[in-house]
Amino acid sequence: MQLYLDSANMKEIEIINSYGFINGITTNPSLLAKEDPSLSIKDLIVSIYKTIGGHVSVEVNSTDTAGMLKEAEEILSWFPEATIKIPMIPNGLAAVKELSKQDIPTNVTLIFTAMQALAANNAGASYVSVFVGRLDDIGTDGMIAVKDTCEIWDRHGLESQIIAASIRHPIHILDCAKAGADIATVPYKVLSQILHHSLTDSGLASFISDHKKMLAAKEQ
Ligand code: G3P
Repeated sequence: MQLYLDSANMKEIEIINSYGFINGITTNPSLLAKEDPSLSIKDLIVSIYKTIGGHVSVEVNSTDTAGMLKEAEEILSWFPEATIKIPMIPNGLAAVKELSKQDIPTNVTLIFTAMQALAANNAGASYVSVFVGRLDDIGTDGMIAVKDTCEIWDRHGLESQIIAASIRHPIHILDCAKAGADIATVPYKVLSQILHHSLTDSGLASFISDHKKMLAAKEQ
């Protein structure tokens, strides 16, 4: 399962990208709204793409099909490798159908059930983003949507890549990987959490100290 960073923050993107284990970035209007308002959205998105050099999902803000297609055209004029993120609404599916005819990659977002994922796949989505944490937030088990989607995909050999989104903690990543999601898009804080373990830190401290002791003994 690939890991993407779910962020529009250049500092986070540069740090995580330097570690070499992520394959893409997903952004959304709420993440962009957290950044410095003096930055141009276009410049920020282009910087993100130049830094990561891989998948970058950029979301449209219109809710009508023509508006979404116009925004997609503008985003693609910034960098032609963009994946256009489209909300899971009927007008969005119509936009996905149109973009898929032109071989433009799409990521259908705000998916909360396997049936929504199925409809997005059938419209021609390249990626379906199934939200986990927001379902947990309302007292349901968000993993069920990911597990159901993966089961249906396995059974029918469907083509869209399954992105597990709205990830809140490391166990979500573990469960999504076990369920068979293709990708998990994860906030910076949670990616940082999965890299660290207290036994790694204490083990490394022992190795460093033993290495120093050995060198000191050799010098005597
Ligand atoms: O990018 C979409 C998704 O990952 C949002 O996450 O934490 O706002 O539910 P969250």
